[in-house]
Amino acid sequence: MGSPSAETSAPSTGSDELRLRRSLGAFPTGVCLVTTVDPQGKREGMTINSFASLSLDPPLILWSVRTAARSAASFLTASHFIVNVLSMDQKELALHFARPSLDKFEAFESMFDAGMGGCPRLKACVSTFECRRHAAHEEGDHIVLIGKIERFDSTDLPPLFFHAGRMGSIHELAESSIA
Ligand SMILES: Cc1cc2nc3c(=O)[nH]c(=O)nc-3n(C[C@H](O)[C@H](O)[C@H](O)COP(=O)(O)O)c2cc1C
Repeated sequence: MGSPSAETSAPSTGSDELRLRRSLGAFPTGVCLVTTVDPQGKREGMTINSFASLSLDPPLILWSVRTAARSAASFLTASHFIVNVLSMDQKELALHFARPSLDKFEAFESMFDAGMGGCPRLKACVSTFECRRHAAHEEGDHIVLIGKIERFDSTDLPPLFFHAGRMGSIHELAESSIA
């Protein structure tokens, strides 16, 4: 970490982008796979870490999609999406769904069944939130998608974490942080 004065100055120019990315990446998160099926019947899925709870009454969650993402239009037009919170042993799945591809599900077909609105739902993961698309707000280069939870489920599986550009179990990330 640099000097406190350098780190606390407001990000202002393009040259600060890397430092801003690093500072944002210092916040540890879980990792989710968000899935949908668009009005043409095409299944889409992407790895995200922007998931957050928003409201209990009514039950709302949010995540944000990069406007330029290949699958953004599908998430914006579909009636439903499912947030699948990934478990410690689903890193390969997370990496696969973080790369653009025409049919991401083909290689992992047996891991999914059909959830609300026909969206692909992971049969085994930490938790699932099956949502109806409630609102979308474009801000900067992302669109915040808000979903109303229609069905949810959870397990005791240990979660996958993301911190400082690394993905792994809490033990793996703790070891690499103090190494
Ligand atoms: C840990 C991690 C978190 C990510 N979080 C987001 C996110 O919150 N929103 C987003 O739009 N992309 C996020 N991405 C990038 C997308 O997974 C990636 O751009 C993917 O290719 C998008 O799918 P598509 O190309 O099929 O549209 C993340 C990637 C990783 C590895």
